[in-house]
Amino acid sequence: MKRVYTTLSLLLACCLNAVLAQTPLYLDDKQPIEVRVQDALQRMTLEEKVRLSYAQSKFSSPGVPRLGIPELWWSDGPHGVRMEINWNDWGHAGWTNDSVTAFPALTALAATWNPAMSAAYGKALGEEARYREKDVMLGPGVNIYRTPLNGRNFEYMGEDPFLASRMVVPYIREMQKNGVAACVKHYALNNQEQWRGHIDVQLSDRALHEIYLPAFRAAIVEGGAWSIMGAYNKIRGTHACHHDLMLNRILKQEWNFDGVVVTDWGGAHDTREAALNGLDVEMGSYTNGLTSESDFGYDDYYLGHAYLKLVKAGEVPLSVVDDKAARILRLIFRTAMNRNKPYGTLCTEEHYATAEAIGNEGIVLLKNSPVSKKAAPLLPLREDYRSILVVGDNATRRLTEGGGSSELKVKEMVSPLDGLRALYGDRVKYAKGYTSGRPMYGRVKEIPQQVTDSLRAEAVSLAREAEVVIMIGGLNKNHFQDCEGGDRQQYGLPFGQDKLIEELRAANKNLVLVLLSGNAVEMPWVEQVPAIVQGWYLGSMGGKSIANVLSGRVNPSGKLPFSFPARLTDCGAHAFDALSYPGDSIRQEYKEDILVGYRWHDTKKVPALFPFGHGLSYTTFTYGKPVLSTRQMVPGGEVEVSVSVKNSGNVAGKEVVQLYVGDEKCSVLRPVKELKQFRKIALQAGEEQTVTFTLTEDDLKFYDETSATWKAESGKFKLYIGSSSTDIRAVETLKR
Ligand code: BGC
Repeated sequence: MKRVYTTLSLLLACCLNAVLAQTPLYLDDKQPIEVRVQDALQRMTLEEKVRLSYAQSKFSSPGVPRLGIPELWWSDGPHGVRMEINWNDWGHAGWTNDSVTAFPALTALAATWNPAMSAAYGKALGEEARYREKDVMLGPGVNIYRTPLNGRNFEYMGEDPFLASRMVVPYIREMQKNGVAACVKHYALNNQEQWRGHIDVQLSDRALHEIYLPAFRAAIVEGGAWSIMGAYNKIRGTHACHHDLMLNRILKQEWNFDGVVVTDWGGAHDTREAALNGLDVEMGSYTNGLTSESDFGYDDYYLGHAYLKLVKAGEVPLSVVDDKAARILRLIFRTAMNRNKPYGTLCTEEHYATAEAIGNEGIVLLKNSPVSKKAAPLLPLREDYRSILVVGDNATRRLTEGGGSSELKVKEMVSPLDGLRALYGDRVKYAKGYTSGRPMYGRVKEIPQQVTDSLRAEAVSLAREAEVVIMIGGLNKNHFQDCEGGDRQQYGLPFGQDKLIEELRAANKNLVLVLLSGNAVEMPWVEQVPAIVQGWYLGSMGGKSIANVLSGRVNPSGKLPFSFPARLTDCGAHAFDALSYPGDSIRQEYKEDILVGYRWHDTKKVPALFPFGHGLSYTTFTYGKPVLSTRQMVPGGEVEVSVSVKNSGNVAGKEVVQLYVGDEKCSVLRPVKELKQFRKIALQAGEEQTVTFTLTEDDLKFYDETSATWKAESGKFKLYIGSSSTDIRAVETLKR
């Protein structure tokens, strides 16, 4: 009997070994991914390889069913996991289990100037994406804020390449720990929505390398993003989605990107270019990326049968087909076929807490003056107010809806009015004051363009009776108001809000204005309004964060990630003719060149209304004299810059210490100064802390167009240390 058992177990072991020996390497997740990719590739037919490169539905692309390699599910992005979309068109699928946490918009995240917040964001969003079984999240976006008219600025991280770089990396790293790929977008130069599908951007190599590429580079090289989305627009004559310089040479060769380049939805235009110029996956063709759809078969995509035909005709080398397929397999193994990924979670207390914390730190206190000589500043709100009037459509509006592809269906939503009522109860009254229409894309004629007089009159009359008035206005994510597919058509506030603000101020001097927007707006009433708060789009817990800051439960610590010009023409992009913005409908020239944002305001001596890096606190911070480890930067060397910062007020607070570098004399034009380091620190009242930054030679360099390298010249450099780009507390010099 014993012998029978031994023989049986031997037999079993043999069978098992035989089965294991036959397990294809691509299925064995103990093997390195590259071994699995090569193994899968050699088992695939040409047709199967080509089939990986184009969509099978609006938001999925196929795997290799014969080999058990699963499909990829893509989803927007970037502020939460979008609701399910129909298989073949843009309609909402109407599921009942796809409500999520809406996180603050990326402008708000950037305004925290806190990379730890970005890490928390990526982690929480990655967990929600896993729960919803998404493999690729379409975000984050790091297009540079060039003009306040760009309808999509709210999805990006501001005007400064260094700030955007530091903020994008932790988001990607933490998200991808969930086995969910980040898809950085829109690569590159999609800096406006007008004519986004074809506008041909002309710019200098310096502007490209110094301003528009660094955040993408950081996302790929440091963040290790597994995918990237090509932009809709053209660059120097060719569509960004199939652009040899941008995709083959810069992204794949220089930055060693080993992931997948996907089109923006409908961003491919030519089979040969798509095949040869670095595109890997084509999605959403024959749509406008938002609303329109036409009858088509997926095989008719540029990377569909037409691509297969070119390969069979020998016009596209097999090495190109293998490279694309390998990248897509790598992405599938990293995500859909990753057996070690966690399950994920949806709408948890932790996710809401994360959304609230980011909102708390992202809100920017732009202005906070006393209403009379002897009075204290208007904010934080006095606890003893008996009657608080809240005015404005945005006090109750779901700003998670609209905006385009970043729209979200939320499970929980605390509006600003809810948030204030939770703190102040029935001391709060509400008047709408103006109306701005239901959330929608396009069809702008349906959107009311002016304030309804009766709404304004009601608000103003209630304002006379209240002790304090809090107006919650701004833009609203409809077409032309911070929305994909169109730019803003005016710099000022829409829906008659200017008039409403002026009348409210005349009725009650205790006026707090909270602007919800992803963009700067013109403020003709800025002198009259004592307290102004930039409240962004803050997602599910936005109303809590706003109430926290207005009440003083949270001390504001956000800083502007972009400048607020007083007039539109004070912004570099708008200081030239229409060819600079928006272009002549075919071409566009970035005439301000490298002088984007504060680089323009500083260098051209055109002060911004609220400068880059600006944000007030309920406490004050005093800076000590900086100490430098050496005043000479040698090649390959480092310089340490230390500065002590003290909370010199009465309440705990957070400060963002900013270090800018300026080149005193150079053979090319350089901005007065550029952000090179920053650190956010928390200080109790009276507490002091020393912040130490390390500069290297790279921080002194510019992109030299002649040699196509980064170069530092000898001479004197200035180090500016301060609390914003204009509130500079100390200037030191350094030689190289
Ligand atoms: C947008 C992308 C988005 C895609 C899919 C496009 O219209 O530009 O950002 O990810 O649609 O919804």
